[in-house]
Amino acid sequence: MSKRLLEGKKGIIFGALDERSIAWKVAVRAMEEGATFTLTNAPVAFRFGNIKQLAEQCNTIAIPADATKMDDLQALFEQSMAHLGGKLDFVLHSIGMSPNVRKKKAYTEVKYEWLDKTIDVSAVSFHKVMRTAYDMDAINDRGSVLALSYIAAQRVFPGYGDMADAKAMLESIARNFGYFYGKRNQVRVNTISQSPTATTAGSGIDGFQDFFDYAEKMSPLGNASADDCANYCLFLFSDWSRAITMQNLYHDGGFSCMGMSPDLMA
Ligand SMILES: NC(=O)c1ccc[n+]([C@@H]2O[C@H](COP(=O)([O-])OP(=O)(O)OC[C@H]3O[C@@H](n4cnc5c(N)ncnc54)[C@H](O)[C@@H]3O)[C@@H](O)[C@H]2O)c1
Repeated sequence: MSKRLLEGKKGIIFGALDERSIAWKVAVRAMEEGATFTLTNAPVAFRFGNIKQLAEQCNTIAIPADATKMDDLQALFEQSMAHLGGKLDFVLHSIGMSPNVRKKKAYTEVKYEWLDKTIDVSAVSFHKVMRTAYDMDAINDRGSVLALSYIAAQRVFPGYGDMADAKAMLESIARNFGYFYGKRNQVRVNTISQSPTATTAGSGIDGFQDFFDYAEKMSPLGNASADDCANYCLFLFSDWSRAITMQNLYHDGGFSCMGMSPDLMA
């Protein structure tokens, strides 16, 4: 039997809330491909989500950690390495939240305390996760760190609100941390820019269904599904992507290259 894609690899997966979460799909597929990992989410998500059920299914532990808190992150990396028996090979940051979007504040009317929160949770937390791993030397050479982004980082999607600014920063953090982590440990850092996907975070965007249908028609392959996204994550954790780093990689059925679609015109 051929070797599974992630056989022997260890990791941490952030952001599995329920069965629809992209991180949930990544966890299930990573297990099938032979990886071992811990799961984590914000303490509040342990009360409202199903992460404990996923942990049982994946024969692992779920560790509460607010990704904006350095103490939580340090404890998470320590416990994860103790549980998995060594340093890590991959980390998935699948985290996004905007109080302004949640509370339907238009981009021109954001509350700045909430904007700070959006940026901290959805972008700076990626820096904090990597900073923690970097300072603890917690990731093996040639390891892979990934975050999930959206094309509103490059183009205007008015309903996406201040998350657009957070995603632009997230992608910049991937490039900049990717330089330093690449030089020191050959650790790869990338973002995947995913199609609209019907999850808790996705469906919270104003006009999500119209958005989804528009992108579906605009993309020659249709929207990329969460299952396909999980497979792409696995490829980027694997040794098949050893030289890919500091990239924002579109996983969108071709949406990002389109100008006009006859399907939409019709
Ligand atoms: N759904 C889409 O349309 C879409 C498209 C492109 C990119 N993305 C990105 O994919 C990622 C995953 O989102 P999803 O669509 O699976 O939705 P989701 O709601 O299932 O996942 C978002 C996760 O972020 C977690 N989170 C929020 N605040 C946190 C904190 N302080 N500390 C730790 N975790 C915290 C939530 O608990 C949740 O598990 C996000 O970065 C999102 O922006 C989603």
